[in-house]
Amino acid sequence: MHGIVIFGTNYGSTQKYARRVADRLGFECIDYHWADKDRLNKYDVIVYGGGLYAGRTVGLAKTLRKITDIDSKHIFIFTVGLADPLVEKNVQNIRESLKRQIPKNAYREDRIFHFRGGINYNSLNTKHKFMMATLNMILKRMPKEKQTDETKAMIDTYKGEVEFIDYNSIDPLCESVLGLNQE
Ligand SMILES: Cc1cc2nc3c(=O)[nH]c(=O)nc-3n(C[C@H](O)[C@H](O)[C@H](O)COP(=O)(O)O)c2cc1C
Repeated sequence: MHGIVIFGTNYGSTQKYARRVADRLGFECIDYHWADKDRLNKYDVIVYGGGLYAGRTVGLAKTLRKITDIDSKHIFIFTVGLADPLVEKNVQNIRESLKRQIPKNAYREDRIFHFRGGINYNSLNTKHKFMMATLNMILKRMPKEKQTDETKAMIDTYKGEVEFIDYNSIDPLCESVLGLNQE
């Protein structure tokens, strides 16, 4: 099996997961900025991990556009966000948004995974601080019954620092990729 792990990150949580996944699978691991067409198309298994920002997955759409024959590849995707993936509604929201970002033939429910990252408000760049402030204002005005776990997580961590990285959560993804050998 010839595979690669590619990651899109702003503050490093996704990179940490990506390195773990790559170590486990014995795959090369690179930032999506380095994933040019020639390099990408050499592999038959592509694991893409991206941090979530306002529902979008960093670098994912851009990277998938470089794959010339998606149907001939095994594509696995993982997202890293603050929202707890044990809450079904959060997963549904992330997946709905993924469907809008990537081609139909790259979207396979059983090959998509969700991990939890972290945030340190003080390290955010100006654009992200502004986005968080706007989001926080909108969410705070939202009636409590309309707030989801995802929105609550954003409000609770506003201006703070949290870290939810859990390397055990990569097991199902790694098993699924390794399972290709048995197919
Ligand atoms: C501006 C902004 C928007 C975010 N939007 C989401 C979101 O839509 N869903 C989510 O679960 N987490 C969201 N997060 C949290 C990040 O996904 C989380 O910090 C993640 O660990 C970032 O990964 P990275 O460190 O690899 O960039 C957001 C964070 C920021 C700063």
